[in-house]
Amino acid sequence: MYTPKKIKNICCIGAGYVGGPTMAVLADKCPFLNIYVVDLNQEKIQQWNSKDTSELPIFEPGLEQIIKRVRGKNLFFSFNVDKYISIADMVFLSVNTPTKTKGVGSGQASDLSCIEACARQVAKSAKGHTIVVEKSTIPVKTAETIKLILKSTEDSDHIKLKSFSILSNPEFLAEGTAIDDLENPDRILIGGEDEESMNHLSKIYEQWVEPKKIIKTNLWSSELSKLIANAFLAQRVSSINSISALCEKTGADVNQVSSAIGADSRIGSKFLMAGPGFGGSCFKKDILNLVYLCNYFGLPEVADYWKNVITINDWQQKRLSEIIVDKLFGNLTDKKIVILGFSFKAKTNDTRESPSIYISRYLLEEGAHLIINDPKVNKKQVDNDLKNDQIFVSTLNNKNSFGTWEFSNNLESAFEKADAVVILTDWPEYKKLNWKIIFKKMRKPAWVFDTRSIVEEKEIQNIGINLWKLGSNC
Ligand code: NAD
Ligand code: UGA
Repeated sequence: MYTPKKIKNICCIGAGYVGGPTMAVLADKCPFLNIYVVDLNQEKIQQWNSKDTSELPIFEPGLEQIIKRVRGKNLFFSFNVDKYISIADMVFLSVNTPTKTKGVGSGQASDLSCIEACARQVAKSAKGHTIVVEKSTIPVKTAETIKLILKSTEDSDHIKLKSFSILSNPEFLAEGTAIDDLENPDRILIGGEDEESMNHLSKIYEQWVEPKKIIKTNLWSSELSKLIANAFLAQRVSSINSISALCEKTGADVNQVSSAIGADSRIGSKFLMAGPGFGGSCFKKDILNLVYLCNYFGLPEVADYWKNVITINDWQQKRLSEIIVDKLFGNLTDKKIVILGFSFKAKTNDTRESPSIYISRYLLEEGAHLIINDPKVNKKQVDNDLKNDQIFVSTLNNKNSFGTWEFSNNLESAFEKADAVVILTDWPEYKKLNWKIIFKKMRKPAWVFDTRSIVEEKEIQNIGINLWKLGSNC
């Protein structure tokens, strides 16, 4: 029987884009807790412990300052996973849940091997009563699997030396605004069966979140709500991106259409920015997972409906790539193209599923020479992303037709003799570029392809640059 006690020690398994910032804010808001963030990746843990806080493994505005305040006081990073599970009253599972790449459900279902490994490790090392919290995004019903693994160790003990409660507490932070999202969340979702454990977690959040924003549901509603929130957000991006193509054909302007429809309070103005397609580690994998679940539960029509959100997203990236080739006379051999932005959105160094990867690869396949710039992504990351891509590797073998790329963090020299500039990420730095000076450096006819509505149309055209702007007729 679970005896209520004060939560003192928290262990978070997974020191990634969610585990790191989430636990940093928790430590900051709850100085009475000791928080241990553990990860198998020793290099990452060393970076989290780095004296020089500019070397943290992730870039997130505001994170460095919080780390300076709490690290070594009540926030600790370690690769000793077992040790910190054993002293924890509450364990957060914050590990990656990517799309399966082989076996049943390959290409759609979630790969839950990390979650299962964690559950087994918690089952082995936990002592006393432990509240296990699903923080990772997982398919509905995953708590059932975790419960079975944990229960199996409960049952094997003759005397109850350990027991578990399982909660679902999905994370809704967006990269680039993670700290603000964590400090001022729209809502906190806690799903569970054991009211006492739910209250323990709720009490922690109530240190800085108004109780009315804390929603309590059953386990399955909580697990499913996370997938559905991402699906709805991604659906809005695909909807406006599909309309961007129609605007280009008709003379309408997608930004004007977004403002006009967003003014309707029933529609709302957020998530209506047309762009090169959504990236990031989650939208695509979570929708694929939703599609898999719908098919699994015998709902192929529902599955097809959501699959189209991804179809439009892939199509947007392909169609932009084709437009660039077409405008540059259908030939990119020996043409120099500057790629502005490699992260999937501004204010993060994350490149997972970034549209820049697909579009860069496409242009390289056409024989272009790319100069890739990003304020926070480094050359090693770009190299990994372009190499890791299977289609890219297959073409790499055919060196005759393949282009070349170089990384440049020098925006002074990057535009020298360039034929085109492609703006793919909405970094504020790119809004301040001096196009008059850039134009002088470029080879003529010079092109700018603006997929993020960053440049001033009139200014660019007056200078003499050819402009193609997503969702408009220029
Ligand atoms: P990530 O890849 O950045 O971090 C996951 C970490 O878990 C890695 O450092 C990995 O080494 C570690 N790990 C994996 N298995 C482990 C094990 N058995 N023991 C110890 N460490 C282990 O992933 P992320 O972006 O932080 O995402 C984590 C989860 O949160 C995913 O389910 C994701 O869908 C969800 N999520 C992500 C975001 C986001 O913005 N990135 C937002 C909300 C939810
Ligand atoms: C998204 C959700 O917003 C978070 O709530 C969620 O927790 C997270 O996924 C997750 O589960 O991982 P994130 O992917 O970090 O967060 O960033 P978003 O701001 O949602 O942007 C996703 C992509 O959509 C980016 O490529 C962005 O450029 C694009 N986007 C977004 C648009 O093209 N237009 C928009 O109007 C908004």
